[in-house]
Amino acid sequence: LGKIKSDDEQPGLAVYDPGFTNTASCRSSVTYIDGDKGILEYRGYPIEQLAEHSNFLEVAYLLIHGELPTKEQYEAWEHEITFHTFVHENVKSLMQGFRYDAHPMGMLMASVGALSTFYPAAGNIHDADNRHMQIVRMIAKMPTLGAWSFRHAQGKPYVYPDNDLSYTANFLSMLFKMSESKYQPDERLVKALDVLFILHADHEQNCSANAVRSVGSSQVDPYSSVAAGIGALFGPLHGGANEAVLRMLRRIGSKENIPAFIEGVKNGDERLMGFGHRVYKNYDPRARIIKKAADDVFEVTGVNPLLEIAQELEKIALEDEYFVKRKLYPNVDFYSGLIYEALEFPPEMFTVLFAIGRTPGWLAQWNELVQDKEQKIARPKQIYTGDRGLTFTPAAERW
Ligand code: ACO
Repeated sequence: LGKIKSDDEQPGLAVYDPGFTNTASCRSSVTYIDGDKGILEYRGYPIEQLAEHSNFLEVAYLLIHGELPTKEQYEAWEHEITFHTFVHENVKSLMQGFRYDAHPMGMLMASVGALSTFYPAAGNIHDADNRHMQIVRMIAKMPTLGAWSFRHAQGKPYVYPDNDLSYTANFLSMLFKMSESKYQPDERLVKALDVLFILHADHEQNCSANAVRSVGSSQVDPYSSVAAGIGALFGPLHGGANEAVLRMLRRIGSKENIPAFIEGVKNGDERLMGFGHRVYKNYDPRARIIKKAADDVFEVTGVNPLLEIAQELEKIALEDEYFVKRKLYPNVDFYSGLIYEALEFPPEMFTVLFAIGRTPGWLAQWNELVQDKEQKIARPKQIYTGDRGLTFTPAAERW
């Protein structure tokens, strides 16, 4: 743009691109997506291999550090994360102050933002050790805050972390533990939830990552940046879609009602939630892996009756010209809600699970952003469409 600007009267070429569909906002080496081919890679590793052979904490390490850990590095990382799972008691008091029916995403967003006041040094973003400390804290504390927002809605006492358990098993313990005795989750469910966290860990410049980067570009602390990301994720067109899918399936109610529902979608009355993606114009690779995870979960919990409706809906949509022509395929959210429901999460919690999984991706991108010498404060252009140069008449003369 600068190169073709000839003088102050000639601003050069500006691009009107609402939603940034064709504008790169940064350079990044975290995640690669080829939406036409349905490819997703974290730091060059295909998502299918990571989901099958890795675990969430190792993937978090990979995203943050850019390479896989040695055994010693992994053990040190796991130790650090495990021993930062507790939060200050005043954070607990803050959360207890919410209404009984507060949406857990609102509670999560507020409590993550509040962490910045407990760690004022977090504002020192140019110090690498300090950044590392905040990254560890945030990955460690997200399950605690997420689980407490769940217990809050149920009116149950908050459960403290059990640091003898793995990252994901500890999360389940804080959610579902009902007595003094140790919580022992089914390992197959732990594995399935861990895979879901891996699948959600990053997705390049999606709406919430863009929010984290945009806010982070002001050089604010990472808690404030991630709180902004959580706000973006809350919306029904982003992370809130999995919750919306479940509500949609319930509303459809039975396979017989699907054709009428599809007609409504085609008439523009509503959207088929869990379908379509800004980047994927092919089957979302995460949706395939989720289908497999769903089988593993349903083996333990029994089949979710809404699964039949979802499968039939997918089949009909994939054969319908409206969806074919627009390259609308199931995305990660189409089946994830069914698994979450089988794991006994209420729909309001689905996006919280997404947020816990996405935290390493947000932080990897934030960490990349603050070290990027080319990065400027995010400040898009606008095309002004309002009035100009009006003369103000004081209220006393106008009324
Ligand atoms: N149902 C029906 N029609 C759809 C859908 C859908 N789910 N998604 C897109 N379309 C149609 C649009 O109406 C539009 O049709 P038109 O060309 O006749 O006007 C065309 O497909 C292109 O749609 P856009 O809205 O321009 O696509 P965009 O890339 O902006 O939107 C989005 C992507 C927001 C994900 C969209 O597909 C959608 O709303 N999907 C449903 C919500 C959802 O599942 N979100 C989760 C996304 S994944 C994630 O965040 C983890």
